[in-house]
Amino acid sequence: MHPSNLRAILWTSLLLSTAACVADSSGPKRDSADRKAQSARMIPLDMHTHAQPNLCRVRHLSLALALDFTTSTASGTCTLTFERIDPDAPLVLDSKGLRIERVVAVDGSARAFSLGQEHDNLGAPLTIELQPKDRAVVVHYATAPGAEAMQWLAPEQTASGKAPFLFTQGQAILTRTWIPTQDSPGVRVTYDATIEAPANLTAVMSAEQLGRGPDGRFGFRMREAIPPYLIALACGDLEFQGISNRAGVWAEPSVVRDARDELVDTERMIAAAEKLFGPYRWGRYDLLILPPAFPYGGMENPRLTFATPTILAGDKSLVALVAHELAHSWSGNLVTNATWRDFWLNEGFTVYIEQRIMEEVFGVERTSMEQVLSRAELEQEMAGMQPKDQVLHIDLAGRHPDDGFSQVPYEKGALFLRRLEQIYGRPAFDRFLRNYFDRHAFQSITTEEFTHHLQAELIDRLPALGEKLDVHAWLTTPGLLPDAPTSRSALLDRVDTELAALRVGQAAGKLETKGWVTQQWLRFLTNLPRDLSAQRMAELDEAFQFTTSGNCEIACAWLEKCIQTGYSGADQRLEEFVMQVGRRKFLKPLYTALVQAPNGLERAKALYARARPRYHAVSRGTLDKIVGF
Ligand code: BES
Ligand code: ZN
Repeated sequence: MHPSNLRAILWTSLLLSTAACVADSSGPKRDSADRKAQSARMIPLDMHTHAQPNLCRVRHLSLALALDFTTSTASGTCTLTFERIDPDAPLVLDSKGLRIERVVAVDGSARAFSLGQEHDNLGAPLTIELQPKDRAVVVHYATAPGAEAMQWLAPEQTASGKAPFLFTQGQAILTRTWIPTQDSPGVRVTYDATIEAPANLTAVMSAEQLGRGPDGRFGFRMREAIPPYLIALACGDLEFQGISNRAGVWAEPSVVRDARDELVDTERMIAAAEKLFGPYRWGRYDLLILPPAFPYGGMENPRLTFATPTILAGDKSLVALVAHELAHSWSGNLVTNATWRDFWLNEGFTVYIEQRIMEEVFGVERTSMEQVLSRAELEQEMAGMQPKDQVLHIDLAGRHPDDGFSQVPYEKGALFLRRLEQIYGRPAFDRFLRNYFDRHAFQSITTEEFTHHLQAELIDRLPALGEKLDVHAWLTTPGLLPDAPTSRSALLDRVDTELAALRVGQAAGKLETKGWVTQQWLRFLTNLPRDLSAQRMAELDEAFQFTTSGNCEIACAWLEKCIQTGYSGADQRLEEFVMQVGRRKFLKPLYTALVQAPNGLERAKALYARARPRYHAVSRGTLDKIVGF
């Protein structure tokens, strides 16, 4: 049977049942395919891949790439080692924008290949015809200059202004724009790589760093099987400073010392997480501070978290992001969402663990503030979302995984776990989580597999301390459930008192703000009345110097208010900010506020036209829609 027929059957069975796993086939090959598919671990159906890992499944990748900063391309080979489940099936890979030059077997003889029809989100399937003995093939290829996973920065976009910079971002389905592979989080691979880079630059990857070989190439090796979205590469003028014997920071030379000081508590965070959830299984934990164009706050690439420099506030007030990315070393990297529908398994667990780490290292008061702030963000965002997108187990049929990106998988997911903790008690829930990570280590699992595990290991075993939980409702009901846990923060209550005073006319300089920390200022700024006069805004600015704040969270919250109230005193800072910072979380509210302001659309379009070439494809994708580019 032709694989596309099998695929049609798989799709049909998905439509007919909600079964998460498919190891079914029919027709002439049924018997052998069936037996083989069942002997291999069943692989859940991922609608965001062209690959057919139930038939032929990639196990290891070996990359040999040369980076060309003049053409913004990488070229070389990707050797794929695979397991053949159906001996007659070809190897089907994902590819998007790749120029495939040729495909050969390990003995150098050519293999026929074809690129199928390009799909907007998914790219094109790359189908390679195999000979009976093939267990590996070598794909010779080059990336496109506009590969979405790769951002090639001009020297002006770096701290030094002297050397160019490259970084990759694989999550969710961008790895296929720089590596031809089965780009599904259920298809875990080990990898190694050699990277040829300009002599003055250093390459780093989400792997063991083997250093520069005699040929000048950087070598890397990842011995644990990881989902392909975690394969990551960066190259620039980089220096390293250690924090402990297993943690440290990579950054541009002018940034690395401050970065290390800011992130010095990382080792304490690792120790706290290990105490709660079991050993850190990845060897080293390093952080790479990227130039400000990085579109995310952080990305949990194994052994080497990628992070925005906008967390370097100078007072460690934004390091919850490190706790978050570190937490992914358990939830996400060790136990991975099998498909992007199950994204909440990655992020909800991670936010929960992040908060537990923060509580251990920075205390309950700080954590409660962060919980209250993020719940407010969740409620605010959900108010503007379609009900079908307010659920944890989201339906992404026909959509891009990014459409499922919101506070819902993060904060609602974490609230679900906090609810479980509340019902079963912290000691029992901690034991449950530790067991969950041990039992599923280095596996990719679906929401259904999680609920089975939850039922068997917690619900059926332990009497609830309080009332029962409706798991199904938590996964499928839009909005916040009535039993969602709430947090209180006395420190934030104090801010609310001052906000109330401000509302009835108290002068900014007379507010009692002594000793306020970043989270309190954020509460203050996000809850400022929208109708403050320009004069009152100026008075606040004078009293608290928001416009010149070196804390990007504070600056961004302030700039949003400036746009909303029509206060022009921060216009120049706004311009500098959006020209420099590429982090989508900041750009999205700023451009949204601009577009909504009276006569703001023109201004938004003008600013965006100048800044857009500096933004990553991920940020452009979101902002193009907001600004109407
Ligand atoms: N893995 C995510 C980033 C991501 C998600 C990239 C989906 C692509 C697709 C990362 O762990 C994350 O959640 N980052 C947050 C920071 C965190 C503190 C909430 C971010 O970048 O804002
Ligand atoms: Zn995350």
